[in-house]
Amino acid sequence: MNRKYQIALSVAAVALLTACAAPMPSSADLDKLTQDILGRSFRAQGQAKLDRLSPDEDNRLCAESDRTGVALDAKVSAEIEARNMKTIKAPADGKYLGDFKEGEKIAQSGAGKTWTDAEGSVNGGNCYNCHQISKTELSYGTLGPSLYNYGKMRGVTNPNSAESKPIVEYTWGKIQNARAYNACSNMPRFAHKGILTEVQIKHVMALLLDPASPVNK
Ligand code: HEC
Repeated sequence: MNRKYQIALSVAAVALLTACAAPMPSSADLDKLTQDILGRSFRAQGQAKLDRLSPDEDNRLCAESDRTGVALDAKVSAEIEARNMKTIKAPADGKYLGDFKEGEKIAQSGAGKTWTDAEGSVNGGNCYNCHQISKTELSYGTLGPSLYNYGKMRGVTNPNSAESKPIVEYTWGKIQNARAYNACSNMPRFAHKGILTEVQIKHVMALLLDPASPVNK
């Protein structure tokens, strides 16, 4: 090995050792740094406002658990679920189901909540992004369980009957606010976060529960 090369190698080794000896930034330091970078580059536009940068308490707790790999304490999970359960409202007119054809359009649409969505424009539910629903739609995500035959598999032959009441109410609640049943659910909280209106949720309910819907054929 020639001398010049030897010196260069020693310098590199010393630099490496010094870098390794420097204290690692703490997780709180890294969080702050990330928050600063986001704060500098994110702007409020269309439906995406600066509140995106400050997650609510439930999202913060679940993100922290994801990041650290430490599961939430059972008591904390139960508190998140109870807090979210309180946000669920039964439909004002007592009718849970709308039109399944409209529901299919809402499930297909991923519109909403971005910089290019004007305030007050109609959002979609983006359900196919995570769920299989109708058999005729071949493109769907698998983050959530398949919802094909959702009502049929649960024995819903008449959604207005007393026997169907528990499943109808559960499905309504789940779509309104999924964290009420599963503290760190990955499913968007459609009513709680103002993504879908009550009428839109009724249409999606019909897609899943109406015996005439293609989902239940
Ligand atoms: C970002 C992914 C995502 C989107 C978008 C999404 N879901 Fe989900 N959904 C999930 C996941 C994950 C689960 C299972 C875990 C859980 O229960 O929270 C789930 C569970 C469900 C369940 C409960 C199923 C059962 O057997 O109990 C229903 C009903 C449901 N979703 C309906 C919908 C509808 C309707 C839409 C659109 C308006 C939708 N989801 C959009 C991820 C999603």
